[in-house]
Amino acid sequence: MESTTAPARGAGDTTHEFRLGGDLDIHRLGFGAMRLPTQGFHGLARDPELGRAVLRRAVALGVNHIDTAAFYRSGDGKVRANSLIREALHPYPRGLLIATKVGPIFGPHGPLQASPAQLRALVEENLTTLGLDRLDLVYLRIGKMEVPHGESLAERFEALAALREAGLIRHLGLSNIDIAQLHEARAIAPVAAVQNNFHIAKRDEMAMLTACAADGIAFAPFFPLGGGMTDINDERLVKVAARHGATVSQIALAWLMALAPVTLAIPGTGSLAHLEENIAARSITLSPADVADLALAGHGSPL
Ligand SMILES: NC(=O)c1ccc[n+]([C@@H]2O[C@H](COP(=O)([O-])OP(=O)(O)OC[C@H]3O[C@@H](n4cnc5c(N)ncnc54)[C@H](OP(=O)(O)O)[C@@H]3O)[C@@H](O)[C@H]2O)c1
Repeated sequence: MESTTAPARGAGDTTHEFRLGGDLDIHRLGFGAMRLPTQGFHGLARDPELGRAVLRRAVALGVNHIDTAAFYRSGDGKVRANSLIREALHPYPRGLLIATKVGPIFGPHGPLQASPAQLRALVEENLTTLGLDRLDLVYLRIGKMEVPHGESLAERFEALAALREAGLIRHLGLSNIDIAQLHEARAIAPVAAVQNNFHIAKRDEMAMLTACAADGIAFAPFFPLGGGMTDINDERLVKVAARHGATVSQIALAWLMALAPVTLAIPGTGSLAHLEENIAARSITLSPADVADLALAGHGSPL
């Protein structure tokens, strides 16, 4: 059993790097593991051997930030993201940050919110399935797909903060939250990262991104490519992609990276070809003209 990351040694302030929580240096372009067990949500199982190959290739390509959850699994429960990660990568390479999230408990009637008392078992489930004795980053995941407003997360975040104090967690994050909830949580314990639904075709998280950027909090949007549900492909992306000899997916990722030094990209895929394509977006730097072309008509900012 081990922790995957060591204290940061480098400056961590180059364009492609981010220092998370003040001590973990990661590449800003990472990998989301939700698509490894199944293409949809709890859908048909994907080939676990392919999932392990994607993970190994991701690390070989330099990925050192993998986003996962114990509840990322196929509908039959036979293929699970955390198991694939452990099977493919353990013993973990030095410097690999595996971020996970707790909050939802999936039952026959859909996801329920874990109570503060239930969170410890969910954290322990991640420790066990990943083969770690400390989790580097645990997000408290709130609500369903919509951002809930007005709900207090204090008791649940206090429960996770206590697990952090006990040494089970290194850094805490929040997912699917609003600004008031970010403030509420930060009064309890440091927040190292926020993970909300945001991509080039859904740009309504400016206030959250600004708040994160102001305080050096990582902003790691989920569905960076539209989550396979929103078609991100439009003529502005096609135009910029043609200029770079790139794909629209690559431009969507490069756009996220161009927004602020705190944005992290965690594109999810169970395909080796898509993985290669996504990671190659690292080499694309958007010019001010590109960013202007990607701006929404009538907006002065890239959002
Ligand atoms: N906090 C939360 O509530 C929450 C919710 C959802 C997701 N997440 C995290 O965020 C990560 C990213 O989200 P996501 O995986 O749902 O969505 P995404 O990265 O926006 O898109 C994934 C979808 O796009 C496809 N895709 C990936 N690369 C592609 C490419 N280069 N060209 C064309 N299609 C491509 C994938 O299919 P293939 O597999 O066939 O490539 C999959 O259908 C997840 O993996 C998970 O770690 C968090």
